Amino acid sequence: MSFQMLTFEARNRIAVITINRPDKLNALNDATIGELGSAIDDARSRDDIGGIILTGTGAKAFVAGADIAELAEQGPVDGRKRSLRGQAIFTRFETSPKPTIAAINGYALGGGCELALACHIRIASENAKLGLPETNLGIGPGYGGTQRLPRLVGKGRALQLILTGEMIDAAEAFRIGLVNKVVPAGELLSAAEAMMQQILAKGPVAVALCIEAVNRGMEGTLDDGLAIEANHFGLLASTADMREGMQAFLQKRPAVFNGK
Ligand code: COA
Repeated sequence: MSFQMLTFEARNRIAVITINRPDKLNALNDATIGELGSAIDDARSRDDIGGIILTGTGAKAFVAGADIAELAEQGPVDGRKRSLRGQAIFTRFETSPKPTIAAINGYALGGGCELALACHIRIASENAKLGLPETNLGIGPGYGGTQRLPRLVGKGRALQLILTGEMIDAAEAFRIGLVNKVVPAGELLSAAEAMMQQILAKGPVAVALCIEAVNRGMEGTLDDGLAIEANHFGLLASTADMREGMQAFLQKRPAVFNGK
């Protein structure tokens, strides 16, 4: 698969997807969003890939937002269509049974912040700046920001960020729970890869079902979520991975999972 707007590298069972429009601070034009859809589908379907890291080229920006030059031309019908298309593609990151980590290497604004929000985990470099500045442009977030941000940081903090359009630094993003971890810029990718390897050492079926239980549980009632969890708990008891994990513990050795 070849890409114009991003690079896709598979190494040590990790797909590293790097958005690559540094002259536009990796802004998401429609073509880049389409390629992100192909890249996540490819990574999800490949047996040699267990997890996905998403980052941006350069030291300045992860993604500085949707491409404003394209947005400036839109009318109501194509604006809605653009939003729905981007939402559907970002959701492919959120619903991936393989873990997704956003390695935020600089500005993560607007659509960039929303893309990071669709990933399971966010690690930021110390120079990262995050925000949803759409209201500065007379629009609102269109790629999931009004929905995923309050679920992550709470309604009050989300509304503050959305309504003021303010940018916050990595330390503040960590303080409010918008990012999981902050590391020096030079250590960002290695930190993301180290966390991913930690996850890839676990049972892949268990990991996939935990992602699904958290995703689905967040959208339903506690009772429905608990039912999903119990069903997964029973289902996992049918796997060779569960037998291996428990035997390995009892035999005082590391477990070797095969995803079956
Ligand atoms: N869409 C399109 N182009 C963008 C962009 C975006 N979201 N963000 C940056 N760019 C382009 C700039 O137009 C500029 O292109 P040019 O060199 O052809 O003029 C280039 O990227 C560099 O950006 P610049 O603004 O010169 O860098 P800066 O260091 O002065 O400022 C930002 C950095 C991130 C503060 C500023 O670029 C910015 O505010 N970007 C828009 C953020 C935004 O509103 N995002 C939400 C969109 S819905």
